[in-house]
Parts: sequence; C-alpha cells; structure tokens
Amino acid sequence: MPKHLTSLLGSPLFLWTLLALPSVGMVASGMDYGQVMHASGEFSARLLILSLAVSPLLSLFPGRAWGRWLLRRRRWIGVAAFGYGVLHTLFYLMEAGTWSAVAGDLMEAGIWTGWLAFLLFVPPALTSNDASVRRLGRRWKPLQRLVYGAAVLTLLHWALVDGHWLPALVNFAPLVLLQLARLLRNRPTLTPRESSR
Ligand code: HEM
Repeated sequence: MPKHLTSLLGSPLFLWTLLALPSVGMVASGMDYGQVMHASGEFSARLLILSLAVSPLLSLFPGRAWGRWLLRRRRWIGVAAFGYGVLHTLFYLMEAGTWSAVAGDLMEAGIWTGWLAFLLFVPPALTSNDASVRRLGRRWKPLQRLVYGAAVLTLLHWALVDGHWLPALVNFAPLVLLQLARLLRNRPTLTPRESSR
C-alpha cells in the first residue's frame, strides 16, 4: 500500500471521520431532538467506556498487536466521545428551548450529574493532543484522570435519567469487570513469610 495512504488511514482525522458518520446519520435522518439526544448520549458513553478499557486490556493481554493499535488511538477515541457529548448537550439545549427551562432542570439529579460529567470531560478532551502533553509535562496525567470522574457521573446520569439501572449497568459492566480483573492480577503477592505475619 502506498505510504501516504497508510499514513492517512492511520491518522486521527480518518478515525474521527469514521466515528463521526453515525452523527451525520442521526442529524440527517429526521430524528427529533429527543432521539438525537438519546442516540448521541449512548455513543458518547460507549466511546468513553472503550477509551477507558484500553489500559486494563493492555495489562491483561500484554504484547498484542490489537492492544498497541488501540493504545495509539485511545486519546482519539476519548476526543470522539467528547464530540458526541457536545452533540448530546447541544440537542438537550435545543429541546429545552429557553435558558429558564435549562435553569429549571438544574436541580434534578439526572440533569446536574450530566452537566458535571460534561464539565469534568472538558479539560481531558482539550488536552488530548501532543502539544498539551509536552506543555503540561507531569501535570498531564492527573488532568486526564478527570475522565474517570466523568465516567462515574455518566453512569449515575444514565441510570437517573432512565429511572432504572439496568441499561447503564449493562454498558458499564465490561469496564468494571476489566478493572477488577486488572486489580486482582496486579495484586501484590505475599511471600510465605510475609503471609504468616
Ligand atoms: C459528556 C457528558 C454526557 C454523557 C456521556 C451523557 C450520556 C447520556 C446517556 C448515555 C444517556 C442515556 C441515553 C439512553 O436513554 O439510552 C443520556 C440521557 C440524557 N442526557 Fe446525557 N450525557 C452527558 C451530558 C449531558 C448533559 C450536559 C445534559 C444536559 C443537562 C444531558 C442531558 C440528558 C438528558 C435530558 C437525557 C435523557 C434523554 C432521553 O430521553 O433519552 N446529558 N445521557
């Protein structure tokens, strides 16, 4: 395959274009505001889950080519999750219609958890680029960890707006299981002497 084609296929732009296609479908297919909000919220949450699953997958299955492929694209997947979060929020604002309606919703637990998830998502998404990695140095990683807070709030937001836990839990279960498996695997093992103390 020609070199420029290989680098195009491996670029963030190519992945983002692929991942953006469903959003074009959502907006162009005549779905109403509520349906776009529903679909884009699920897309955002699932891409967020996928980006957070990369690390435990790598530690459970080290040295796999697909793991390296995902690792190189983890930040891009996270940015795409944020993009769907922006679309979701925009359609929420359009459906609400007025700022007073938006303010009126704010005290609902299902709604403020969504806003908080969104706010926590902003710094990691804006700094998911090489220039920010260089500029922020050791402060970059702690900033990226805000995304875990965004994920927990997304889980709560999803369960609260739906009024039941099942769909949110089913979607988050693979990530929770992978994190648990990683914790168990990386648990420090005691030597016989240490365990008899
Ligand atoms: C990036 C942050 C966010 C994520 C990942 C997210 C994700 C989700 C998900 C997964 C759902 C459930 C969709 C379903 O029922 O299947 C949902 C629903 C909803 N979200 Fe968010 N959300 C976020 C931010 C927000 C914000 C800032 C608002 C505005 C207050 C909001 C308002 C809503 C509403 C009103 C629903 C119910 C939509 C429906 O009827 O299906 N979300 N969100």
